Amino acid sequence: PLRKLAERTKTKVRIGTAVDMSALADDATYRETVAKEFNSVTAENVMKWEVVQPERGVYDFTAADALMKTARANGQEVRGHTLVWHSQLPAWVNEGDFSKEELRSILRDHITTVVKRYKGKIYQWDVANEIFNEDGTWRESVWYKTLGPGYVEDALRWTHAIDPKAKLFLNDYNVEGVNAKSDAYYELIKKLRAKGVPVHGFGAQGHLSLEYDLPHDMTENFLRFDRLGVETAVTEADVRMRVPAETIELNAQSQGYHTMLQACLLTPKCTSFTVWGFTDKYSWIPDWFEGEGAALLLDEQYNPKPAYKAVQQDLRLA
Ligand code: G3I
Repeated sequence: PLRKLAERTKTKVRIGTAVDMSALADDATYRETVAKEFNSVTAENVMKWEVVQPERGVYDFTAADALMKTARANGQEVRGHTLVWHSQLPAWVNEGDFSKEELRSILRDHITTVVKRYKGKIYQWDVANEIFNEDGTWRESVWYKTLGPGYVEDALRWTHAIDPKAKLFLNDYNVEGVNAKSDAYYELIKKLRAKGVPVHGFGAQGHLSLEYDLPHDMTENFLRFDRLGVETAVTEADVRMRVPAETIELNAQSQGYHTMLQACLLTPKCTSFTVWGFTDKYSWIPDWFEGEGAALLLDEQYNPKPAYKAVQQDLRLA
C-alpha cells in the first residue's frame, strides 16, 4: 500500500487523498481503500464555506466531523480545505453587499469558528485558495473587491492565532511550474515572511490534462519555495484525458503523476502529496470537462492503473 511506502521515504512525505463523503458512506470498497492506501485525507467539499456556514451564523459541522472521525480511526492526518475561496460560497456571502468592516468581521468569525473546532487536529490548512489570475494579478473575488489584498494576511494571522501548530498554506492550480502565477505566489510569500506573517506552505493542486504538456520545471519551482523556507505540497493531483482511455494515454498519465511526485520527492520540505480522489468511479472531472475522465490512480473497478504503479515505484525509490 502507498501509505506503507510513504512512511519509509527519507522525507516521510504523506500520501493523501480527497474524500467524497457520500462515497465513504455508501461504498465499502471505497472506505477500505481510503484506510489502506493513504495516511492523509482532505475533505473534497465538506469543509468549504457553503457546507460549514450555509446561513449567516449557522454552522453545520456534521459532515466535517464525520471525516475527522474516520481519519482518527484510520490513523490519518487531515489537511484542512479551505478557509477563504471565491467558489462554493453561500449566496449570503457572495451577494451580501457588505461594507468592508462587516465582511472583514464575517471572515474573521468564520475562520475563528472553523479553526477552533479542529484545533490541533489539522496539520496543514489551505488558508487561502486560488487568489491569483493566470497572469499573476489578484483575482477579483468578493474578498479582494471588498477588502483589498490584505484579506490574505488577515486570514493567515487569524488562523495562526487560534491554531499555532497548523502549517498554513496558500494553494492554487496551474502553479506546478515556474510561470507568472507561481511567480506571484513566490513574491507574496517572500513579502509576507519578511513582515512576519505566519505563512508556512505553498500548495500546487496538480490538476493536469493530457491535452497540455507536462510541467517541465516543477522541481525548480518547488525548490525555490523550499529556499524561501516554506513547505511545499501537491494538494489535488489528477491527470485527466479524453475517454475511453487507451494504453498510450494511460502511460502518459502515469508520467504525469510521476512528474509531480518526483518533484515533491526531490524537494526536502515537500511534506504531502495528495490525489483528488483515487478511483475513476468518483471524480469531479466528468462533471466539469465534457468527454474527459479517467484521471485517477485506480479504474472504476478499483484496479490499479499504470499511474498507481508509477506512484508506488517513486515512493519505493525515495
Ligand atoms: O451540495 C450539492 C448537493 O446538495 C446536490 O445534491 C448535488 C447535486 O448536483 O450538488 C452538490 O454540490 C456539488 C458539490 O461538488 C458536492 O458534490 C456541486 O454542484 C459541485 O459544483 C461541487 O464540485 C466540487 C468543486 O470543487 C466545486 O468548485 C467538486 O466536487 C470538487 O472536487 C472541487 O474541488 C476543487 C477544489 O476544492 C479546489 N481546487 C479545484 C478543485 C476542482 O474543481
